[in-house]
Amino acid sequence: MKNEVVDGIEITDHLRRLSPEQVREEILSGLLDSPRSLPSKYFYDQKGSRLFEDITKLDEYYLTDTEKGIMRRTMPLVVGELSDADVIELGSGDCSKISILLESIPEESRSTIRYVPVDVSRAAIVKSAVKLRERFPRVRIQGLVANFHHRIEEVPDGHRKLFCFFGSTIGNLGQAESESFLAGLSEVMRPADRLLLGLDMVKEVGVLESAYNDSKGITAAFNRNILDVVNRLVQTDFRPREFDHSAFFNSEVNRIEMHLVPRRNSTVHSPYLQSPLEISSGETIHTENSYKYTPDSIESFCKKCRLNVENIFMDEREWFSLVELAAD
Ligand code: SAH
Ligand code: AVI
Repeated sequence: MKNEVVDGIEITDHLRRLSPEQVREEILSGLLDSPRSLPSKYFYDQKGSRLFEDITKLDEYYLTDTEKGIMRRTMPLVVGELSDADVIELGSGDCSKISILLESIPEESRSTIRYVPVDVSRAAIVKSAVKLRERFPRVRIQGLVANFHHRIEEVPDGHRKLFCFFGSTIGNLGQAESESFLAGLSEVMRPADRLLLGLDMVKEVGVLESAYNDSKGITAAFNRNILDVVNRLVQTDFRPREFDHSAFFNSEVNRIEMHLVPRRNSTVHSPYLQSPLEISSGETIHTENSYKYTPDSIESFCKKCRLNVENIFMDEREWFSLVELAAD
């Protein structure tokens, strides 16, 4: 564990980094698998995080604005009375949503609040915390560079906790993984603690598919960027421009799937592979799942995770849900 102060922000680095061998094993085993796949966490290098921020500003990508709209309307109800509390945001990214929550806490209570952004990206935490400090000088900010899967129990102890997991990021985990993750969180939550969980809802397929096939091609660039990350990490010679972006709704399992599709048969080398990868034009590399929910699936999902639904806040179109949960 490393504690430091960066640009006046307290940062605790708790990231259990994988060894280069473990990273190579994780990436190459997915590429050798049938069907081929890559772990979506490798999207978020510096360029990938910037591209994701650009995605959130697209008209087609309704998720961010819709969730922010729900927050503007409901946060005064949820946190209007909050004081002496730790607000812990998992996968905080650019921290743009937390401003809405902090604004809803009365000025006089803000000095009793500690905000803990948790992200694998130290750069994202520092950049956004510096901005937040200017806007909310009375809130104590303590960044935690950590993998939210490993380090929930490392969150600083103390007061009542409000966990926030916005953006439907939970939908990027596999079903078993998301259940065990939330069940683990429920175990560390005390009766007064709450979790605010953002979930994207099943809706008209055209709306869902446009959000992941934007007309400016930013999602396509975000998808292809994973091959640049992989080239750096395992010294492959993927040519990202020779792969098409594909994103579609799989209605059997209620998820958007993103894939990379080679335009022609392609041969990929790496010093860590015994023989080159032969990827035929009929194959795809599966890079991401983004699960979507229904009112019924929210109830059953939360029950399996031993979480009680206290409130479900939705926008008028019922496109997105912000669910307030307590431990069972
Ligand atoms: N919460 C923001 C950002 C979502 S993007 C929003 O709603 O818009 C997902 C964020 O989660 C990225 O900043 C990425 O770096 C972070 N992330 C992804 N996997 C993570 C993990 N296992 N542990 C911690 N952070 C993670
Ligand atoms: C971070 N996550 C919730 C995004 C999503 O919608 O699944 C990642 C993303 N992938 C393509 N566009 C955005």
